[in-house]
This record gives sequence, structure tokens and C-alpha cells, in this order.
Amino acid sequence: MEISQLETETLTAIAAAGSLETLDSVRVAALGKQGSVSLLLKTMGQMSPEERQIQGPLLNGLRESVTAALAARKAVLEAAALDQRLASERLDMSLPAPHAPTGSIHPVSQVMDELAEIFADMGFAVAQGPEIEDDWRNFTALNIPETHPARAMHDTFYFGLNDAAGGKRMLLRTHTSPVQIRTMTSQRPPIRIIAPGRVYRSDSDATHTPMFHQVEGLVIDKGIHLGHLKWTLETFLKAFFERDDVTLRLRPSYFPFTEPSVEVDVGYAWINGKRVMGGSENWMELLGSGMVHPKVLTHCGIDPMVYSGFAFGVGVDRLAMLKYGMDDLRAFFDGDARWLAHYGFDALDVPTLSGGVSP
Ligand code: DAH
Repeated sequence: MEISQLETETLTAIAAAGSLETLDSVRVAALGKQGSVSLLLKTMGQMSPEERQIQGPLLNGLRESVTAALAARKAVLEAAALDQRLASERLDMSLPAPHAPTGSIHPVSQVMDELAEIFADMGFAVAQGPEIEDDWRNFTALNIPETHPARAMHDTFYFGLNDAAGGKRMLLRTHTSPVQIRTMTSQRPPIRIIAPGRVYRSDSDATHTPMFHQVEGLVIDKGIHLGHLKWTLETFLKAFFERDDVTLRLRPSYFPFTEPSVEVDVGYAWINGKRVMGGSENWMELLGSGMVHPKVLTHCGIDPMVYSGFAFGVGVDRLAMLKYGMDDLRAFFDGDARWLAHYGFDALDVPTLSGGVSP
């Protein structure tokens, strides 16, 4: 075949190649081991020197023009392929971000945050104590001596006698009330604290779990009386349930660490099968409270002739169930992601009094 004809045909095939794959087969057909151009180049070996002098430059020229055309076409096809990819993989940055799977705030944490916010507004600080407590702070100092029947009612988880604890009997605190003792023995009045946290009792059914949450409140100052207690609880419950018509009923009761002791009920009604706070149709026992017993003050080195105070204790889980409508306490601690997704709260919805304590 004529060199010029072969060149025309090959260059036409190169120009016509619509994809990198086709271009590569054109390249193999021309410059591959058995390719048309390669075979032609091999014929130079059999040529006479004179012939080679003429044909050599022509053949090399052919190879060079084919090689150059292949490279140029390859660059064009590669650029087109890149353009196509860029077009198909384009990101529209103005689209809203897709919903990212995130964790949520457990209702117990949410309610504790709400409580801290409400009480902070009334000047209360948040106090904490250990979950492993000693017998003295959990019972004795709270006027629950060894033989007191209230001890039996607490279904306490005890640890064995521990020499490291000075031979003291340690236990899992059965209530947050020992934080009262810790606070009164470490700071002087005036005292205004709440103490939220975990407590433990050997008890389990739909409304009792071996671990649950309480929040303790304590106010100690000169001249504190039952009226302060009533106002505080009323203000707290109205803010918590976010209604002004929350009704309270104070009933005389008994706790070893308060005198007098009052149990606080809240009124509610059933409306369309839902419990709605307010009114006096039904009453539900909500929390225990009272004036701090003079013996408890004395145990903590506070003179009951100078100071008085009130205390209260309430179940946090119970508050969460009432406010957010859950009915089985056990589900709180199952760690079921579906339950958490349903009842959990957005981490960015921090309760504030100005923005509303619940989302
Ligand atoms: N500690 C009590 C309990 O767990 C609750 C309680 C009642 C706490 C009356 C108080 C109080 O501070 O005054 O059952």
C-alpha cells in the first residue's frame, strides 16, 4: 500500500475514534507489533541502501504523524470524558443538607436540664454527691437510725464491710437526700441547692426500676417556713408543666428527716384519654417534702435555734413520664434506639426559661 494512502486511512480512523477504547484499537492496528505501520517499518531491513535513503524518511514521517495524531486525539477524548464526569458528578451546593443521623437527649437528661434551669432562676445551685454512699449520710444523719423501720422500706443494696472505708458500711444511695447532709456539712447557710442524680433500690416492675432518678431540693436560712416551701414548689411545678393552672394539694405525711412533713399531690383531668394537669378532679402523689428536722440540722452542725429550712424529693423519671406521656418506666433504660428516637430531644434544644423549658 502506498505510504500516503496508509497515512490518510490511519489519520481518518484516528479522527473518527469516538472513545478512548476505539482510539486504542486504532493505535494497535497501526503501531502494534502486527500493526500496518510497524510492518511497513520492518520492510526497511530488506531494502537496498539507496531505496532506504528515500523510503526511510517517508516511513519515519508516517510513524511520527500517526503517533502525533494519536496523542492529540487522546487528549481531546480525555478532556471530553473529564467534562462529562464533572457534569454528571456535579454537586448543587444550594440544596438543603440531608438529614444526618444524630443521637438525641434522653428524656431524663432533658428533664434534669429543665429542672436546673427552673431552679437556677430561683437562685438554686446544683449540688452533687456520690452514688456509693455511706450508711451514716444515707440514713443515720437523716434521722433514720439503725432500728428505724424506714430502713427496711428502702430495699437497700449494701456492699460488704469495707476496711478502706474505715470499716464503714457502704451502700448504693437509696435517695438523693444524703446530698443534703453533704451540703450542710460542707457549707454554711444560706443554702439553696437542688441535687439531681441516680438512686438505687432493689425493686422492679412497670413503675419501679432498680436504678431511677431523683432530684432533691434544700433551702436553709434564717426564718424559712412552710410558706416558702409551698411557694417554691408551686412556682417550680407551674414552670415545669408550663401551665398557670397547676393545682397543688399538701397533705400531712411522715418522713424521718422532716418535721412537719408534707406530701404534695397535683390535680389533673382526663381529656380525650389524655392526662392533663390542672383542676381538682383527680389527684396524684408527686413528691415528698417538709421542714428539715432539727435533729438533721444538729447532725450537720447547724443550730436549729438560729436556722430553719425545707427540703423536698421528687422522682425525675416520674416527672418525665407525666410531662412527655410515657407509661412504662422500664423502657427508659432499655437503650432501644427506636424509643430514644421517638422520645429523645434534639441536642440543640437546650431548655431555657426565655425560650421555653421544653422544646
Ligand atoms: N428521700 C425521700 C424518698 O426517697 C423523698 C423525700 C421526702 C425527700 C421528703 C425529701 C423530703 O427531701 O423532705 O422517698
